[in-house]
Amino acid sequence: MKLAGSVVAITGAAGGIGFALAQEAVRRGMTVAISDIREAALEQARAALAAMGGDVLAVQTDVTKSAEVEALAAATVARFGKVNVLINNAGAFVGSLAWETPEAQLDWIIDLNVKSIAHGIRAFVPRMIAQGDPCHVVTIASAAAITVYPGYTSYSSSKHAALALTEALYLDLAAEGIGNIGVTIAMPTIIETDIMSPEKASPAGLALGEGGRFKNRTVRAMEQMMRNHVASGHAMSAQDMARQTFDAVAEGRLYVLPGHDGPADVAKACAIANGRAKGIDAYPPIIDGIMQSLERAEAKSAQT
Ligand SMILES: NC(=O)c1ccc[n+]([C@@H]2O[C@H](COP(=O)([O-])OP(=O)(O)OC[C@H]3O[C@@H](n4cnc5c(N)ncnc54)[C@H](O)[C@@H]3O)[C@@H](O)[C@H]2O)c1
Repeated sequence: MKLAGSVVAITGAAGGIGFALAQEAVRRGMTVAISDIREAALEQARAALAAMGGDVLAVQTDVTKSAEVEALAAATVARFGKVNVLINNAGAFVGSLAWETPEAQLDWIIDLNVKSIAHGIRAFVPRMIAQGDPCHVVTIASAAAITVYPGYTSYSSSKHAALALTEALYLDLAAEGIGNIGVTIAMPTIIETDIMSPEKASPAGLALGEGGRFKNRTVRAMEQMMRNHVASGHAMSAQDMARQTFDAVAEGRLYVLPGHDGPADVAKACAIANGRAKGIDAYPPIIDGIMQSLERAEAKSAQT
C-alpha cells in the first residue's frame, strides 16, 4: 500500500520500537496517532514527533482495556477522518519458570501481549472495512512466536498466541473476500529497547524485580544474556526494525523477521517448526546450546 498520506495508529509508542515506528511513519509522510499507558512519556514522544513536523495525535491508552482501545480508534477517526494502519505493538517481557509463573503475572502478560491485539482488531477492522480504502493491520510479535527458550513461559506462550491470532485475522479476511486490508506479523529477535524494564508500565504488586523473577538462576541468566547481546552491539536498532516493518507493510508481506540474519536463528526456528510438523523433538540440542550460552553469560557477569 501507499504509506504517504495514510493514517497510522500505534500502541505502546512512548518508547522503544513503538516510538521508532512513529518516527519512521512521520519520515514516510504518514499521519500518526500514538498511544501508551505512560502519560508523561507519551507527551514527550508527541512533542518529539511534532518537532519532526508530524501531524500527531496522542491518546493515553491501556491496551489491556478494550474500551480504551475502542476510544483510541474513535479518537483517531474523529481527528483525521480515517485510519489506514493499526500497529499492535504494546507488550512486555517477563521471565519465569513454567511451574513458578504467578497467575497474576501470566494474566497481565496474556492481557497485554495477546488480548490487546484482539481488542485492536475488534476496534479498528470494522472501521477499515467500512472505509474500503487500502488498510493494514500489523502485530509486533517476536521470534518467541516461533521458538521457545528456558525461562520464557509467559512470553513465548503469549507470542505464539499473538501469531495465531494474527494469522487467523489474515485467513478470515481472505475467506470473507475482504481485499482492502493487508496483514503483517513482525517476529524480531533482540532489539535495542527498554524491554528489560517491564516494571515501568506494569500493574502494582507483581514483584517483577529483585526477589521476584530474578530469584531463579535460569531467568537471571537468560535476561543477562539478552542484556549482554545489546551491550555488545549485536542487537538490531529499533530504527532498523521500524524500517523493515514499514517495508513489509508497503510490499504487503505477511511475515517479517527482523534480526534473523544470523544462520543460528534461522536454523533454530526451522528445526523447531520442522520438528513440530514431523513429530520430532528438536529441542535437546537447542537447549544444550542455550544452556551453554547461559553459563557463559553468567560467568561473564560474575567477573564484572
Ligand atoms: N526489544 C526486543 O528485543 C523485542 C524483541 C521481540 C519483540 N519485541 C516486542 O516489541 C514490542 C515493543 O517492545 P519494546 O522492545 O519496544 O519494549 P519497551 O518496553 O521499550 O516498549 C513497550 C511500550 O509499551 C508500553 N506499554 C506497556 N504496557 C502497556 C499497556 N498496558 N498499554 C499501552 N502501552 C503499554 C510501555 O509503556 C512502553 O512504552 C513488544 O510487543 C515486544 O514484545 C521486542
